[in-house]
Amino acid sequence: MSLTRPDLDAIPSYVPGRTVPGAIKLASNEVPYGPLPGVPEAIAEAVSLSHRYPDLAAVALREKLGARLGVDPARIATGCGSVALTEHLARATCVQPGDEILYAWRSFEAYPIIAQSTGATSVRVPNRGDHGHDLTAMAAALTPRTRLAFVCNPNNPTGTAVRKAELDAFVDAVPDTTLVVLDEAYHEFVTDPGVPDGLATYGDRPNVVVLRTFSKAWGMAAERERVQAAIQKLLPEVPDSQSNFVWLPLRDKANEFAAGCERQRVIVRPFQGDGVRVTIGTPDENDAFLAAAEEALS
Ligand SMILES: Cc1ncc(COP(=O)(O)O)c(C=O)c1O
Repeated sequence: MSLTRPDLDAIPSYVPGRTVPGAIKLASNEVPYGPLPGVPEAIAEAVSLSHRYPDLAAVALREKLGARLGVDPARIATGCGSVALTEHLARATCVQPGDEILYAWRSFEAYPIIAQSTGATSVRVPNRGDHGHDLTAMAAALTPRTRLAFVCNPNNPTGTAVRKAELDAFVDAVPDTTLVVLDEAYHEFVTDPGVPDGLATYGDRPNVVVLRTFSKAWGMAAERERVQAAIQKLLPEVPDSQSNFVWLPLRDKANEFAAGCERQRVIVRPFQGDGVRVTIGTPDENDAFLAAAEEALS
């Protein structure tokens, strides 16, 4: 008899983007420009107060966020990253064995891990041929056991985004007893006006939660259009991205391509069998990636 739940042994490990000394890291969707002005000062000020317990309910932060977003602070929850909040939501909704968590695949790698650690059953709906969520198939996959449905918009790692009409139809199709989690970690990178702001559009629905994070944006992908256009010339299958990364659907060649880039000192993120995700870096970093990609694809 093991000390911990035996089913936890089967949880796949999260594979983070690797840091290789001397190489350019485009594997973790980080912003390459360093923290925004004011952030180091605010952290230093907080450290000087670290002998006191912090504001546990993050009241001051929630009030500021509420004023900025036009939302009652009582409706805002903060956590150690949106992944932590995702886990709380899964634990709060899935109670019985056989409760289901529905999501598109491929999508954010944390979803299957969270589903499994909660003891819920993952229901994965394959993305469409254009690499976007298949919301019609996801609606058809809803069952009375679906406790939580993720829509990752834009989607990690494919960079695609769902537009308002299809999301309206999906949210309308979901019963009141299923929580819809709109994961908008990359919301600030969206330029397509057809992609809805989840908070403004669905925020008043009692069964919708919108996730946002400080860890991605607050620095912008200026270079995205250039990198996307250049990589689409090499690989026309690359879908348009609404995030700070591009998706190369290289399927079984994903690891080989990533290894080729690494030989050129550029670290990208392979998902063998599906594709490779490449974060937008600085102009120099992007040039290095494009040169490495041309070589690896030739
Ligand atoms: C779709 C998605 N949601 C959430 C997160 C994590 O955000 P946080 O750093 O706030 O936990 C990521 C990070 O890669 C992500 O891709």
